[in-house]
Amino acid sequence: MAEDLINNNDTYFPSYSGTNDKLITLLNRASQNLCDWFSKADKNGPLPFDESFNCIMPSEDGNSEEDLFSEIKSLLNNSFNPVHPGSLAHLDPPPLIFSILGDLIAAGLNNNLLAYELSPSVTLLEESLCKWFANKIGFNDFSGGIAASGGTLSNLNALIAARNNAGLGTNPNSVLLVSEDAHSSFVKCIRVMGLDEANLVRIKTDNQGRMDINELRMSLDKCSIENKKIFAIVATLGTTVRGAIDPVKEISEICKQRNIWLHLDGSIGGIFAITSIPIEGLNNINQANSITINPQKIIGITKTSSLLLVSNMSTLENTFNTGLPYISSKKNIINRGEIGIQGSRPAEVIKLWLGLRFLGLDGIENILKSSIKRKDFFIKNISKNKFDIYSGPLHIVSFLPNKLEPKDSDVWTQTKVNELIKNNFMLSRPKFKGKYFLRVVMGNYNTKESHIEELLRLLDA
Ligand SMILES: Cc1ncc(COP(=O)(O)O)c(C=O)c1O
Repeated sequence: MAEDLINNNDTYFPSYSGTNDKLITLLNRASQNLCDWFSKADKNGPLPFDESFNCIMPSEDGNSEEDLFSEIKSLLNNSFNPVHPGSLAHLDPPPLIFSILGDLIAAGLNNNLLAYELSPSVTLLEESLCKWFANKIGFNDFSGGIAASGGTLSNLNALIAARNNAGLGTNPNSVLLVSEDAHSSFVKCIRVMGLDEANLVRIKTDNQGRMDINELRMSLDKCSIENKKIFAIVATLGTTVRGAIDPVKEISEICKQRNIWLHLDGSIGGIFAITSIPIEGLNNINQANSITINPQKIIGITKTSSLLLVSNMSTLENTFNTGLPYISSKKNIINRGEIGIQGSRPAEVIKLWLGLRFLGLDGIENILKSSIKRKDFFIKNISKNKFDIYSGPLHIVSFLPNKLEPKDSDVWTQTKVNELIKNNFMLSRPKFKGKYFLRVVMGNYNTKESHIEELLRLLDA
């Protein structure tokens, strides 16, 4: 039996010789299924979930190809479909074609970003791409970065490095300052760092949703009186609910004066900084110590794809380097498992690299500009005397019929979301300032003006 298992090893894995005809047939069939699913989105809508969807678990014997392809179909047909033009709820745009290919290649390569010896080409690719981004946003030669699976983890990498850099270790008096509209994952970061919500100081925002500088100054003074040790201030480049950008210039000056690490959560807006699109508030971001850029959220790099860029790479090395006793190292090359939280990590950089190479800077700019145009078109045409509108310079709009009480906002938004999904429009309903809002995220390249006009008619009805 053991003999058979050793000699008949071409059933499960790619063959190292010959043409792998079977794998080619399966890949073609899987590609066909995926492309059929994309092209049926129009009929099925953005969220075609059937409550009777069955999650079938592995059985004693392996399943046939036919069974598996039938289950793949069922899985696809019950999935959120980001390519539908009515998919406007979240920061999850349609996937870029070359990013899909990048994921396929990364899966087949099965290389590991833990170490250079397990991923020589992609280690160099990730290092170079991070440097390219760092350079584009105006960091100097000491800069670089590391990829992570999502904005939350990139932010966490930054905050741990900031705290280490401040020499605060696990000091229970250490605090992080963020705006009251910063992303909810900072609560998670604080908990993971062994602190609690008292260590997260929230600064009030102004009427545009930006961190209020006077409030920030007052909080800093209060921290100092209470002997709290600040390890970082986070400024957000694009808040989740309304796309506001915190005043980086003023915040960075304060950070410089007081020697505090400035982290920018650019999960939404950071990518605009590598283009020439004039977005107010995106100057001066090279004054930060670190910045998260999350290209999965707007330009369609497939999930997950997030980078933390730092102005000085030694801060990551000093924080995360433990030595990898079972891994060889090479002079002048950093094993990338030693500069971030994650150990084993797939070659996600390939889909980012292919996506960016495919688009070029013009293509990136085109996608970003189109999202702003859709937002502008929506705002221009929505009834201003009927809705309170919250939006900033980016492509996100939250709105609510004016003078609605908190309780009524809950009912109105729920009713509207249900009504809209029946008409194949998917919007989200964030809770914000004690009320529920409807939110539209205009990052879907397939959404045309005619779709937005139809959405506005449904909202007005
Ligand atoms: C401003 C901001 N920061 C961080 C995150 C977290 O990113 P991720 O979901 O990729 O972890 C989000 C998610 O939407 C966000 O909007």
